[in-house]
Amino acid sequence: MMPKPEGAKYEVAVVGLGYVGIPLAIGFATAGCRTLGVDSDAERVEILQSGKSPLPHLGNAKIATALSDRRVRFSAEKCDLAESEAIIICVPTPIRSHNEPDLGYVLSAAGEIAPWLRQGMLVCLESSTYPGTTGQDLREVLESMSGLKAGEDFHLAFSPEREDPGNNGSVLHKMPKVIGGYTEGCLSRALELYERVVEHPVPVSSCETAEAVKLTENIFRFVNIALINELKRIYSAMDIDIWEVVEAAKTKPFGYMPFYPGVGVGGHCIPVDPFYLTWKAREYNLDTRFIELAGQINRSMPYYAVNHLLEALNARKRSLRGSRILVLGVAYKPGISDDRESPSYRVMDLLRQKGAEVGYYDPYVPEIDAPGTPWHALRTLEWNRGNLAAFDAAIVCTAHREIDYKELADVVPLVVDACNAVPKNRVACVVPA
Ligand SMILES: NC(=O)c1ccc[n+]([C@@H]2O[C@H](COP(=O)([O-])OP(=O)(O)OC[C@H]3O[C@@H](n4cnc5c(N)ncnc54)[C@H](O)[C@@H]3O)[C@@H](O)[C@H]2O)c1
Repeated sequence: MMPKPEGAKYEVAVVGLGYVGIPLAIGFATAGCRTLGVDSDAERVEILQSGKSPLPHLGNAKIATALSDRRVRFSAEKCDLAESEAIIICVPTPIRSHNEPDLGYVLSAAGEIAPWLRQGMLVCLESSTYPGTTGQDLREVLESMSGLKAGEDFHLAFSPEREDPGNNGSVLHKMPKVIGGYTEGCLSRALELYERVVEHPVPVSSCETAEAVKLTENIFRFVNIALINELKRIYSAMDIDIWEVVEAAKTKPFGYMPFYPGVGVGGHCIPVDPFYLTWKAREYNLDTRFIELAGQINRSMPYYAVNHLLEALNARKRSLRGSRILVLGVAYKPGISDDRESPSYRVMDLLRQKGAEVGYYDPYVPEIDAPGTPWHALRTLEWNRGNLAAFDAAIVCTAHREIDYKELADVVPLVVDACNAVPKNRVACVVPA
């Protein structure tokens, strides 16, 4: 195997310190690796270097410990990468407005890493993306800008991230980790690195296979959520409670796993990653029909929820226009502050378009940061009976555990519950959606 660069200060550097990069860097540091964390956002680096987490659900303790043990350092300077044996890239992979992949962050990061690439280094991409990104797009930038060759002068690999923000049971060392290399030698080197932090590495035959594994996992989720959303609409018309159905169905010990309905899908992964494959499949003249259909169903759910609210108000001789509506939860899932691609905002847009006055409550999102939208700088409601009583209706979009649903149903005259969050004995004013 090609030897590692000699005398490197860091065993690993993580580029991109967000939902994925911070836990990964801290995971390496906690396992005893000399770790460098690099982000282009100098303010974020400063917060981390002072021992604090910029993401509330992560907490400060592990970051502070890793810093005091001198196992990790955070930097905004790419030149520090020259001092590392391995570089892991965890930057965003969003989609553009027409659902096309935006590899801009990955390719810029590659361009910034290339000048510091040295013989024997490993570069591993963890950002979710379509098959071919690592072996073609990323490799081409790294090779053309460094003059070095992947597989001969430096190692190249892809290992998808399985971070589950807000799930404290999801710890790096317990999570099986899929790894694909550009060559066999690249795979061996990547395995050697990840074996420091994970108990169950899962080697696969290529970077493309590893990239496809990640897309498959997220497409599976995307399609199954759409399926349960569709079943919800059908069962609701038959007056059957989807939540009761899922609870009972999941007692089957084989061949079934539960998915839950809601107002759509959100976050940086599930609504985004499937369309990376859709785009790539077009190169092969193929359609991704399941993904397109699931997208249609999931995108229709905010309309379905708002329509439910409208009908429930109508039954009470009220119109949506002029009503004050409280939206509960703008984060895309319970227990975290991440509101990227959150369907709650689509619900709020629709309510506003229909003339409702909209407020929100989210203990994890004190103020909405969405420049260019009507919601930018809106602050969360302060939770008390008086403030709740000012609303004509509420709609539960994300069921944070901290919310007192009993009090909500006691005070607000109508609650539309898309998450099965409100206690069942409060059904008088509660409408499932
Ligand atoms: N969020 C999740 O739960 C999750 C789970 C699995 C996989 N992923 C994938 O992981 C990747 C990262 O997602 P995330 O949620 O951590 O993103 P994020 O937006 O939380 O963090 C990305 C970080 O990268 C930094 N960055 C961007 N360009 C940079 C550059 N050129 N150099 C240095 N830093 C740069 C940003 O400043 C930001 O701090 C994405 O591909 C995503 O699909 C995310």
